[in-house]
Amino acid sequence: MDKERAQAFMKKAVGDVGTAMSAVLVMVGDRAGLFAAMAGAGPLTAEALAERVGMHPRYVQEWLSTMTCGGYVVHDEQADAFTLPDEHALYLADPSAETYLGGLFSGVPSLARAAPDLADDFRQGKGIPFAAFGDALPVAFEQMNRAVYEKRLVSTWLPELPGIAERLAAGGRALDIGCGTGIVPITLARAFGAAHVEGLDVDARSIELARANAREAGVADRVVLRVAGAGDITASPGYDLITTFDVVHDLPDPLGALQAIRGALDPQGTYLMVEPRVDDRLAANVGNPFARMLYAISCMHCVPQSLSQGGEGLGACWGPARARRLAEQAGFSRFDALPIRSPALAFYAVRP
Ligand SMILES: C[S@@+](CC[C@H](N)C(=O)[O-])C[C@H]1O[C@@H](n2cnc3c(N)ncnc32)[C@H](O)[C@@H]1O
Repeated sequence: MDKERAQAFMKKAVGDVGTAMSAVLVMVGDRAGLFAAMAGAGPLTAEALAERVGMHPRYVQEWLSTMTCGGYVVHDEQADAFTLPDEHALYLADPSAETYLGGLFSGVPSLARAAPDLADDFRQGKGIPFAAFGDALPVAFEQMNRAVYEKRLVSTWLPELPGIAERLAAGGRALDIGCGTGIVPITLARAFGAAHVEGLDVDARSIELARANAREAGVADRVVLRVAGAGDITASPGYDLITTFDVVHDLPDPLGALQAIRGALDPQGTYLMVEPRVDDRLAANVGNPFARMLYAISCMHCVPQSLSQGGEGLGACWGPARARRLAEQAGFSRFDALPIRSPALAFYAVRP
C-alpha cells in the first residue's frame, strides 16, 4: 500500500464530491443572475452583490465562498471582495453567447434524476426512456446548443458543404433528425425562405417545444415538425440536406438510421453528422475533460435511453473511425471529417 497515493486519492475523491455539489450551485448562480451581475463589475463585497440582485446576503455570501473554493470567482481577503474574471464570465454570464456553458449545468438535475434507480438498471440491463428524464431536459439541451447553432450553422458550417446552401436557397429540402426543440430546422428556415424544412424527434415534449419555438421565430408555417423515429423518413423526393446533431449515438439502430438517410438523400445531397469530438479509444480520451463529462452523460442518459428503445447503446464517446465504418456499412460512398474548429463537436460530411 502506497500511503501517499492513498491520501492523494482520498483528497481527489472528496474534491470530486465538492465539484458535483458545486455544479448544482453554479446552476443556481446562473439562474439567479449572480454571474451576470458580477460580469464586468470588478470586485464586489457579498453585501454589494446581494443588493444588486436583490437577494438574501447570507445565501450570496455562502455561494461566493463555494465559488471561490471552486476557482470560479477570486476573493480578495483584505477588501473581502469577490471578482468574476472576464475569462470566466465569457462562459457563465450570457446565455446568448456561443461560449455559454450554463446549459451543461442546467442538465445536471435532469440527468441525476435517474441516479437512484441506475444501479438496478445496470443489474437488469434496463433502459430509461428520454421522457423519463423530465420536461426540463429538452430545455437544457436547447440551452447547451442554441447560441452556437444559431451563430454557426449557416455562417460557418454549411459553407463546408459545397453547393448545399445554394440548393436550399433555390427551394431545396432539409431534414433534421432528432431535432429536439427545433433550433436547427428553425435556423435553416430563417436563413432559406424558399427551402422546405422538416424536423423530427421521437420525444413528443421536444416537438411541442420546437413548435412553440417555430411560432416565436415566425416560421411555423414553413417548418414541418413531427413526432417520429429516425427510420420514419419519406424517401421521395430526395433531401438535399439531412442532419443529425448529437443524435446518432442515442438511436436504437444507428446502422438502420444511416441506411434510411442514404435512401432518402438526393444523389447530390449531403448528410451532415455532428457527434461529440472524442477519440475512438478510451485510452486516448483519458485526461480530456470533455470526454470525462461525456462518458458520465452517456452512462446516465445516452446508453439507457438507447436501451429503452431496444437499442444497442452505442454511447456518446465514439470517434471518427467508428463513424466512418458505420457510414461505409450503410453504403455511403464518401465520408469526410470536416476541418471545422470546435472543442466539443466533430463534423462529418457523408454523401451517397
Ligand atoms: C442529445 S439530444 C440532441 C437534440 C438536438 N439535436 C440538439 O442538438 O440539441 C438527442 C435527441 O435525439 C432524440 N432521439 C432519441 N432517439 C430517437 C429516435 N429513435 N428517433 C428520433 N429522435 C430520437 C431525443 O429525443 C433527443 O431530442
